[in-house]
Amino acid sequence: MKRTGAISLRKRLVLQLLALAAALAVLLYVTVRTVAGDAAEETLDGVLGAATLAIADELRGGEDGVSIDLPHEAFSILGSISQDRIFYRIAVGEVTVTGYDDLPAPARKLGSGLASPVFYTLPYRQTQVRVAAVERVVLADNAPVAVTVMVAQTRTGQDTIAARVANRAAGLGLGVFALAAILSMITAGSVLRPIDRLAEAVGRRGPRDLRSVDHPSPAELVPLITALNGFIARLRAALTRTETFITEAAHHIRTPLATVRAKAEIALRRAETEEARDTLRAVIRSVEESARSASQLLDHATVVYRSDRLAREPVDLGKLVAGVAQSFAPTAELKDLAIRTQGLEAAVTVTGDRLLLESALRNLMDNAVKYSPPDEEILISLEVVDGLARVAVSDRGRGLSGVNQAELTRRFARGGNVRDIVGSGLGLTIVDEVTAAHGGRLDLSEHAEGGTCAALFLPLG
Ligand SMILES: Nc1ncnc2c1ncn2[C@@H]1O[C@H](COP(=O)(O)OP(=O)(O)O)[C@@H](O)[C@H]1O
Ligand SMILES: [Mg+2]
Repeated sequence: MKRTGAISLRKRLVLQLLALAAALAVLLYVTVRTVAGDAAEETLDGVLGAATLAIADELRGGEDGVSIDLPHEAFSILGSISQDRIFYRIAVGEVTVTGYDDLPAPARKLGSGLASPVFYTLPYRQTQVRVAAVERVVLADNAPVAVTVMVAQTRTGQDTIAARVANRAAGLGLGVFALAAILSMITAGSVLRPIDRLAEAVGRRGPRDLRSVDHPSPAELVPLITALNGFIARLRAALTRTETFITEAAHHIRTPLATVRAKAEIALRRAETEEARDTLRAVIRSVEESARSASQLLDHATVVYRSDRLAREPVDLGKLVAGVAQSFAPTAELKDLAIRTQGLEAAVTVTGDRLLLESALRNLMDNAVKYSPPDEEILISLEVVDGLARVAVSDRGRGLSGVNQAELTRRFARGGNVRDIVGSGLGLTIVDEVTAAHGGRLDLSEHAEGGTCAALFLPLG
């Protein structure tokens, strides 16, 4: 059974787990990028700083000012670590001793006491450069002079590293997300499995199985099971009440009616005037009609009650038909109708509810007797046709006057040509429901030469 409207638990669970996984993957990506970016900058700064210090170590003072012997190792180390361009400037105050004199000095004063260089980033010659600056004091012409050494490096190398790290981080994030997606499917499946199992256990039950549900389930499902068991118990009680009502009603209606009828018959025999006799005959007829209607209503209630909880017993159709035929003999005799049977000796067995099948057959016989004129014949036949048992009741009565079967099997529906004969319109409804409950069908047809044939087809077995 599918319920529309509510989002499935599985979908909801998977979606939420996926959202969580996506958030984690993004966080992972951002973290890896930042940490790796910082680490790359630190490494490059370390090398740049070491080169700057190495250059600063070569500063010499002398009689005729500051001089320097630029150490080539410093530049080759820088060159070996990346393909970046390098600029340097050695300045005394604002005056450049050697190097690029447009390379900007640090914003704040350095102070020559600092052992390690100061780093800053700024735009230079249409690109960004990272600068390491250090100040040293040398004696020139016997006076201390503060010399600033600045080494700048473009940072394409760092960008390349960052891009590579970003790719890896994205791959890692995607991998984590994919893994989390698979795990979330598995989790959703395992979380919901007990519900599926419970539904399966309840769904597997036969329609007569109204025991309470005793299926090992996780604590979260216990309230549901408790509610379900309460419901089953109420249903069981309601069904028992219905069953009791049907049997009691049958008893309490039929017995008094039979008593009234018997008393009326006695009175009829004793009645002296023709008028009294007419009245009593009318009473007896009404009582008969009431008894018949009541019993059909109750039969129908029984069919409705039992049809989804059918007894499954082997029923010998030959015997059943013979029994019903025999029980109609007295009624048929009143109208001088002959009941003929055919094929009853063959062993034809179906599985089902004897009581309901008998009720169906009785209703067919009742119609045949009711709607036949006197001195005719009714034929009940049993045979196997195309792997189905066929029980047919054929009469030479008034026929169906063209009204179709679907119309006649409706509750309380009666044909237009039977107004003169009493009936409740429930008989064929009962027959139709009983055959449907047994997986069979009813087939009503008219004989060409007049009369009706009502046939039941039932699966064998
Ligand atoms: N053997 C039959 N001969 C003629 N008409 C029939 C026969 N069986 C059923 N019908 C028609 O089908 C209608 C419905 O039948 P049923 O449900 O048994 O109700 P009821 O017999 O109480 O009228 C009847 O009213 C009648 O018109
Ligand atoms: Mg009938």
